Amino acid sequence: MKRAFFPPAALLALLLPAAFAVLAWEANYDESRVGTFDLPDPLLCADGTPITAPEEWTQKRRGELLELFEREMYGVMPPKQCARLKGELLSEKSVFGGKAVQRQVVLYLNAPEETPKMNLLIFLPANAQEPAPAILAPNFEGNPTVSDDPDIIAPNVPDATRIEKGKPIERGAEKSCWALEKIIDRGWALVTVFYEEIDPDYDDHRQNGVHPLLRAWEDKNNIPWESRAATITAWAWGLSRALDYLQTLSEIDPDKVAVMGHSRLGKTALWTAACDERFAAAISNDSGCGGAALTRRNFGETIEVMDTALWWWFCPKYSLYAHNPNLLPFDQHELIALIAPRPVYIASAAEDLWADPKGEFLSALGADPVYRLLGTDGIAAFAEQPPLDTPVGGTIHYHIRGGEHDVTDFDWDQYLDFLDKYVRGK
Ligand code: GCU
Repeated sequence: MKRAFFPPAALLALLLPAAFAVLAWEANYDESRVGTFDLPDPLLCADGTPITAPEEWTQKRRGELLELFEREMYGVMPPKQCARLKGELLSEKSVFGGKAVQRQVVLYLNAPEETPKMNLLIFLPANAQEPAPAILAPNFEGNPTVSDDPDIIAPNVPDATRIEKGKPIERGAEKSCWALEKIIDRGWALVTVFYEEIDPDYDDHRQNGVHPLLRAWEDKNNIPWESRAATITAWAWGLSRALDYLQTLSEIDPDKVAVMGHSRLGKTALWTAACDERFAAAISNDSGCGGAALTRRNFGETIEVMDTALWWWFCPKYSLYAHNPNLLPFDQHELIALIAPRPVYIASAAEDLWADPKGEFLSALGADPVYRLLGTDGIAAFAEQPPLDTPVGGTIHYHIRGGEHDVTDFDWDQYLDFLDKYVRGK
C-alpha cells in the first residue's frame, strides 16, 4: 500500500528505533502469560464516590468518564457547529428487483466550499409503510466496493492510502461483507460512506479531511495539542454529521439509526455512539485493541504496537500509556458503558486472536453493572464466553463466530435479529 508521507531524515532517525522495537515485539497468545490486573470500576467516581442511582451516572459519572476518554485517548470531540452542512442528491434508482431505492448524496461539510465532503450511498427499503430504521456503517475501500452496480460513484480522495491513485476501484470487491439484500429484506435502510473521505488514514499531521474544520474550533477553545481530535475522533465526528443529514430524511426513522463498524471502524462505531447519544445502538465487529477489547489484558495487539504503527488514530496523550496500560484511568469496558442504556453488540471471531476475543467478551461483561443500574438486562445471565456461533446476552449482546477477522452473513443475521428486538421492539 502506497503512502504519500515520507518522513524527513531527522524524523526517520527517531522513528526507526521504535519500528525495530515493534519488529522485535511478539504478541502474546498464551492465556497463562496474560498476567493479573485490576479493572477500574465504572461505578466509582474519580473522587471515590460510588454511583448507586441512575441519575448519578447520568449527571456525574458519564460526563467524567467521557472526558477522560477524550483527554487521554481519542481526543476531544468537536461540536456539530464546526460544520456547515449541505446535502445534494446525485442519483436515485431502483435496485434489487425493485425492493430498494439506491440513492447517492454528496454531503458538503463546509458549504458552500467544495471540500471537505463525503459521498453517502443510501439503500432504502422500497414500499416501506413507515420511516425505516437504518444502519450507518462506514466502508474500508470506497462505496463502489460494496456492490457491483456500475453507477456507484468512486470517491475523490487525493491523499487516501487505501485507494491507489489511478488504480481502478474493483466494483463489488467487498460485497461479501455487506449483505445488502438481507438488510433490505428485513426492512432496514443501509447507509455507507468511505471512511477516508472523512479523514485519510495515515499521519498527515491533521492537515486533511475534516481536520481543518475542527482545528478552528480547537484553537478558539484552547484544546491542548496532546488531546486534540485524533483520526478515530475525526471519523466519529463525520459519522455524526452523516446522522445530522439522515435525520432530515422522511424515509428514515431519526430515532432508530444504529452505527456499525468492523475492525478500526468498529473502534470508531463504539466511540461514535459513546459521544453521540442520538445513535440508537452500536455494533462492534472484531474491533479489538482500542475498541471493545480490554487494554489491560496482555493478549494480541497492545497500545505499544498501535503507538508505533497506528499512532494517528489516538491523541498524543495516549502514548503515555504505551508501556503501562495499568496507569490508564479507565479501560474499554467503560467505553461500552458510555453507550448504556442503548443496545450494543460486541462480536469476535475465533481466529482473530490479534483482536483478543476473550478481552472483547470480558469488556462486554464489565459494562454490565452500568447497563443494569440504568434498568436494562445488560448481558443477561452470561458470565462465561459462549461457545462458537452462539449469540448470548440482552441489551449487551455478544458472539464469537468461527473463522477469521471478517464480516459475514452469519454476523449480519445476528445483528439484524438483535436490532429488530432491541431497537425496533419486534
Ligand atoms: C490492524 C490493526 C487493528 C485494526 C485492523 C483493521 O490489524 O492492528 O487495530 O483493527 O488493522 O482495522 O483492519
